[in-house]
Amino acid sequence: IQQSLHFTKGNKDPGGEVKRRGSMYLEEETSKKSEMITCIFSLKEEVGALARGLRLFEEKGINLTHIESRPSRMNKEQFEFFISVDASCSQALDEVIDGLRTQISGHVHELSRNKQKDTVPWFPNDIQDLDRFANQILSYGSELESDHPGFTDTVYRARRKEFADIAYNYRHGQIIPRVEYTEAEKLTWGTVFKELKTLYPTHACHEHNRVFPLLEKYCGYRQDNVPQLEDVSRFLQSCTGFRLRPVAGLLSSRDFLAGLAFRVFHSTQYIRHGSEPTYTPEPDICHELLGHVPLYADSSFAQFSQEIGLASLGAPDEFIEKLATVYWFTVEFGLCKQGSEIKAYGAGLLSSFGELQYCLSDKPKILPFDPAKTSLQKYPITEFQPVYFVAESFEDAKERVRKFASTIPRPFTVRYNPYTSSIEVLDNTQQLKNLADSINSEVGKLCEALRKLD
Ligand SMILES: [Fe+2]
Repeated sequence: IQQSLHFTKGNKDPGGEVKRRGSMYLEEETSKKSEMITCIFSLKEEVGALARGLRLFEEKGINLTHIESRPSRMNKEQFEFFISVDASCSQALDEVIDGLRTQISGHVHELSRNKQKDTVPWFPNDIQDLDRFANQILSYGSELESDHPGFTDTVYRARRKEFADIAYNYRHGQIIPRVEYTEAEKLTWGTVFKELKTLYPTHACHEHNRVFPLLEKYCGYRQDNVPQLEDVSRFLQSCTGFRLRPVAGLLSSRDFLAGLAFRVFHSTQYIRHGSEPTYTPEPDICHELLGHVPLYADSSFAQFSQEIGLASLGAPDEFIEKLATVYWFTVEFGLCKQGSEIKAYGAGLLSSFGELQYCLSDKPKILPFDPAKTSLQKYPITEFQPVYFVAESFEDAKERVRKFASTIPRPFTVRYNPYTSSIEVLDNTQQLKNLADSINSEVGKLCEALRKLD
């Protein structure tokens, strides 16, 4: 029955092949199976009980396509039967369920009624599944909007195509190709780098200020040098296990957030157009490396970001939108309390000279971070934010996101297994037992360490 439950709640992948799921290999549900209705009913263990139950199906002309039995775990005097019937029998099945309950005192637990109700959006189970996102970008990196500063610049557009091709061809586990940035590109980077660096000591959160000198020391963060994604990715992996992967253009919110569940940050590699070094209508390498990267080297923030990613896996579309809004007001435009002051930790702020000053002025509205409310806040994309949300701390924000995530209507809980770089779906006792063993071992180490400290 457990195996069948996996199929019922199966993680549908367009490929439909045998697929790794956590530590197990399961055959994917076929479309035919997903049009089944499945339920479990239990009957008192006595001679002829099952025959009486099956007669109800026969009377209504319902063909059982699958049946399994087992002793009930809840009641030792009962037997449970897991059945599947074709979805076209839906109405007749209602009458049979009534009959099972009233005529022979059976208990019925319906597992799935129709395809729509039980469909969980596909999500990556394994870190290599992120390779599938490469060709699912919303815009290709060289196709610019007409209001983009580089729209009429053919040299810039050709350069963007080079970057897009790197990302397009990249696969998990490969070294991110190094890029020789031109003098003009280095000049643009240098302008942004120099301006922002003057603001960080007073405006950035202390986590950002703590990591920034390390990036200068180990990753080539300098005014005259654009750091390489591969070097930065290796640095992040050594700090928090986060890694970068190049991306050609904008991903959907669902795909982008799914990357965070694996501690993978999709990063652009191209740089903004040199004509407007202080403005970019889209994320570029200045935004990623100066805004995002320092925070991903902080363990508490890394965990906070991963929580948002894990919450997104298999969530319905409306919740993805809410999580993307929470992401916007935290990872992109978040403020946090630090002692008696408020500082910026959002990458959109830490990579914008103008907005970094504006967000800590008395002009915008500041509200406390509360995912239930924050997730509903509307926001502009191309202008300074009129509203910001302040977190008490990353720890507090993480706890709030975790609670918010528990309200997502999802029939399972997920966990990231760092040893296998895969997502475990905690929907069966074996998975729970593995988790309990793992926690038990960690708690043992904690107790031992505490004893030694004493
Ligand atoms: Fe960003």
